[in-house]
Amino acid sequence: MIWKEKTHAPPFKMKMIESIRLLSKEERGRAIEGAGYNTFMLNSRDVYIDLLTDSGTGTMSNQQWSAIFLADEAYGGRESCFKFKKAVQDIFGYKYIVLTNQGRAAEHILYGKTLVKPGDFVPRNMFFTTSKFHIEQGGGTLVEVIIDEAYDPQNQHPFKGNIDIKKLEDLFDKVGPDKVPFINMETDVNMAGGQPFSMENLKKVREFADKYDKMIILDVCRAMENSFFIKERGPGYSNKSCAEILLEMCSYSDGCMMSAKKDAIVNMGGFIGLNDKELHQKLENLGIEYIGSKDYGGMSGRDMEAVAVGLREGIKDDYLAWRIGQVRLLGEMLLKGGVPIVEPIGGHAVYLDAKKFVNHIPREQFPAQALAAAIYIHCGVRSMERGAVSAGRDKKTRKNIFPPLELVRLTIPRRVYTNDHMRFVAESIIELYKNRDKINGLKMVYEPEHLRFFTGRFKPIRGKLISD
Ligand code: F0G
Repeated sequence: MIWKEKTHAPPFKMKMIESIRLLSKEERGRAIEGAGYNTFMLNSRDVYIDLLTDSGTGTMSNQQWSAIFLADEAYGGRESCFKFKKAVQDIFGYKYIVLTNQGRAAEHILYGKTLVKPGDFVPRNMFFTTSKFHIEQGGGTLVEVIIDEAYDPQNQHPFKGNIDIKKLEDLFDKVGPDKVPFINMETDVNMAGGQPFSMENLKKVREFADKYDKMIILDVCRAMENSFFIKERGPGYSNKSCAEILLEMCSYSDGCMMSAKKDAIVNMGGFIGLNDKELHQKLENLGIEYIGSKDYGGMSGRDMEAVAVGLREGIKDDYLAWRIGQVRLLGEMLLKGGVPIVEPIGGHAVYLDAKKFVNHIPREQFPAQALAAAIYIHCGVRSMERGAVSAGRDKKTRKNIFPPLELVRLTIPRRVYTNDHMRFVAESIIELYKNRDKINGLKMVYEPEHLRFFTGRFKPIRGKLISD
């Protein structure tokens, strides 16, 4: 069976390319210094291989590009809206859809403005930056209830995105069910290393939620990739298609939010899916107030056409087998070179374990941030810090949060790079790993109030990030 094999030839070929170039080491050094040692702040023209994110960076197909020409840009009742909603209903199975321009807009109106009240607690397998932000904007607190295995990068549990039912129970006992507005479950858990949850676990969460009459809201940004893992690791799902698995998964939930910029392989788009008519009505009105009218939700008709096609492409078994196979190829090459990464290799990215990679840099000197900047200087590859900088500060004490995982994410955009690019990345990082003791820590010299990883600025503790 194709998805059992290690690597796969892509089920597509290319007919348009974009040139990239590798700057000299001196130029790269100046570029990262100018960016405050924050890879988010680099100009993309200075980047050789861009593994910052898989969000909005995928390559669209000829089918998507041709659909764009059919876009209806009318303000109301636009055809592209009906196609968008039909695709979401067919693939995810929710009855009602609210359109949003991207994920955090959905989180803003769904979590921050509707479901979360001051003093509430929202259990979620693991935090994601924008999700946590909008839960806190509503006056709530996100509580991680993921299984302990997720905090151990080398633990081989096949479903490290699972929720620990005991942790859920403890939270309900501690704060009381009235203070928990809903249970939030992320697919292919991003901050844990792109780790899936199992269908069995979701069913248990459903049973638990029913006991207390609580909604389950899924974050389905990468639900298609999660479905692939369920098919692969089962049990009992190997003969089902990823499309069938995804429909079953959503059937155990009450609603979802999606940043379509991930699994739908588009540059922009998002939505909320719901089965409750009243809740839908409320959110549709909030969408009109904060995002855009109900038939476009902050998207152009062109965006919507691309999503409608991309969703149907993104759920195909052969595409997902290739996609996850490519991520796995990079991870396996790094493992062979002795580089510490999060295992099992996740769905959309390979995560370097910065705590181990640069174990001489103390947490206060942001090892993952330093490692991401060092990788750029070393080989022009842009990655992303996913550790203490991303975790931010404690709401009350304002102290830095040092999460158990301190990672650098090498995020693979969909259908963009070849396996030769992956080889270059692996070889370069293995080389850097051999010289890891030369990498120095960072201090933060500018910190915005929220979501500091986007625009925070740093300086090397010892004058130079990589010693000679
Ligand atoms: N939820 C998850 C799990 C995400 O990964 C993201 C975005 C969002 C919500 C918010 O969606 O960007 O469309 O507003 N993740 C991107 C990333 C930014 O690089 O992981 P958005």
